[in-house]
Amino acid sequence: MNLYDILKSAHSGWRYLVLILLIVAVIQALAGWFGKKAYTEGNRKLNVFTLISAHIQFLLGIGLYVLSPLTKGPTGEALYRYWKMEHIAIMIVAIVLVTIGNARSKKMADAAAKHKTIAIFFGIALILIIASIAMMVKNDPSRTFFGIS
Ligand code: HEM
Repeated sequence: MNLYDILKSAHSGWRYLVLILLIVAVIQALAGWFGKKAYTEGNRKLNVFTLISAHIQFLLGIGLYVLSPLTKGPTGEALYRYWKMEHIAIMIVAIVLVTIGNARSKKMADAAAKHKTIAIFFGIALILIIASIAMMVKNDPSRTFFGIS
């Protein structure tokens, strides 16, 4: 196994951790916001772990971007356009939203405002990531939604 294969497997599997943490964080934030619950230490930790998992996925992605043959083909082809531009652009926007959401919620004093900020920012990030994985399945016939490389 070379570095490319290791990064590919790591990035492929790590997505499930990012997705599960994001889903749980969004559900907890919605429950906290609409249920008028306190913002607990558990909420704070969950949100920070979600942030860290997304940043680790970003670092693995940067390594892959450099090493993958899929980022070296002609942009005119949907397959290469997806891997060269669309995947990285959408995923970076999602990771930035997670980063801003976590930072903003930290600054807020009110529990409802903290939960609402997480629900909105993490929620949009989650939708973007799912949309990008759906685009991957469409543009790259070798991938499936729940596949693992
Ligand atoms: C939360 C963020 C991200 C998620 C959920 C994600 C998810 C994925 C998934 C599901 C795959 C396909 C793996 C497979 O077929 O098993 C993939 C591949 C890839 N990702 Fe990401 N990704 C993210 C961020 C990024 C970023 C920020 C970059 C670039 C800086 C990146 C670069 C790549 C590349 C180049 C590949 C293709 C690897 C190859 O097969 O050669 N990803 N990513």
